[in-house]
Amino acid sequence: MSAVGLVGVSKVFRDGAVAVDDVTLDIADGEVMVLLGPSGCGKSTLLRMIAGLEPVTSGEVWLYGEYANDLPPSERQISMVFQDYALYPHMTVRGNVSFPLKVRGLPGEEIEDRVGAIAHQLGIAELLDRPPRKLSGGQRQRVAMGRAIVREPSLFLMDEPLSNLDSGLRSELRAEISSMVRKMGVTTIYVTHDQVEALTMADRVAILRKGVLQDVGTPDQVYSQPATMYVAAFLGAPRMNLVRAYVHVMLESHVELHLGEQALAVPWLDPRARLLAHYHGDRIVVGVRAEALWPLNSEPDGAQLRGRVRFLEHLGHESVAYVDIGAEAVIDDAAEPGRHHEPRADLAVRLPAYPSLVMGQALAVGVALDQLHFFDPKGKRIDFRRR
Ligand SMILES: Nc1ncnc2c1ncn2[C@@H]1O[C@H](COP(=O)(O)OP(=O)(O)O)[C@@H](O)[C@H]1O
Ligand SMILES: [Mg+2]
Repeated sequence: MSAVGLVGVSKVFRDGAVAVDDVTLDIADGEVMVLLGPSGCGKSTLLRMIAGLEPVTSGEVWLYGEYANDLPPSERQISMVFQDYALYPHMTVRGNVSFPLKVRGLPGEEIEDRVGAIAHQLGIAELLDRPPRKLSGGQRQRVAMGRAIVREPSLFLMDEPLSNLDSGLRSELRAEISSMVRKMGVTTIYVTHDQVEALTMADRVAILRKGVLQDVGTPDQVYSQPATMYVAAFLGAPRMNLVRAYVHVMLESHVELHLGEQALAVPWLDPRARLLAHYHGDRIVVGVRAEALWPLNSEPDGAQLRGRVRFLEHLGHESVAYVDIGAEAVIDDAAEPGRHHEPRADLAVRLPAYPSLVMGQALAVGVALDQLHFFDPKGKRIDFRRR
């Protein structure tokens, strides 16, 4: 039985705004599911409908096999942590963490034991007698998590709990949350707009765009087999290169992909060639991550693209060359609002730190054909198979 079942769940606000659009999703018992997407895509609204804080407009919410559309929040055995901590200011840390247990009327000794254990696990045992105003942001968020988890909920919901913290603390806390919820085995739904957070914490990631579920899978699945162009562009840094390509079938040898003046050949031995052949005479989108590209020094065999270095980015441990290959880039408008023109495609190529390259220099780039991503004109993956 799944812990959470969403069947065609939608939320339309009174002003007509569609915040969540026909989402169907199953979350297994004990699973850590991360809801990922940019600001405004409906993550919080979806979470609030699961918590019962927001009625669904249509569709069904199931919790542990029980139809839950009309179940009040208090009967859902859910704990929730928000971005802004929301601690009781007039209570100490101990008061905050023990509060949900006192409300339930648990005996004092048991409360003491459970609060002590949680405080120890979260590294806040020394802070138990302090008021919230004498805590740092990271400590406050630990306390908020302690208060939420001490009730031993069947479902733990977190809405961007780390986004008010600086980056060092964020990666420390995300590792702690990850290990804590797994140790406790509690089903967790974690909302974030940060793809690194999603990929590092999740058992599975669900990616939302404008209220529509784009893809669901393990971090490896959504990264290496993104279901849509949107997901492909959202995950990974540097951003995946998306390049317009014309498809031309050469019956005797291969399917040719024309990227501007250049071409890549997908041989018939490649199982994707037959799928690509459906688009003969048409345009598709080829996605290339930096890790599928490498600079060529000698005469190559195998697929390659040539271009000029347009700029170099030095990151200390490596450098990234952006190579203009004279092809047309495809910009996903939801991923980069405000960009309407279609600029030239600059392939991001990873290089050793501070390479002896200059701007404008010609560079040949090797291409790992098997790591290319192909999307149809609507942005759907051409060779998608999952679920
Ligand atoms: N109470 C509300 N009334 C009207 N529109 C809302 C309300 N709450 C959220 N929205 C809209 O619904 C969309 C999704 O919001 P939200 O779920 O908060 O997104 P996210 O958490 O992903 O940033 C946004 O366009 C937002 O403006
Ligand atoms: Mg939100």
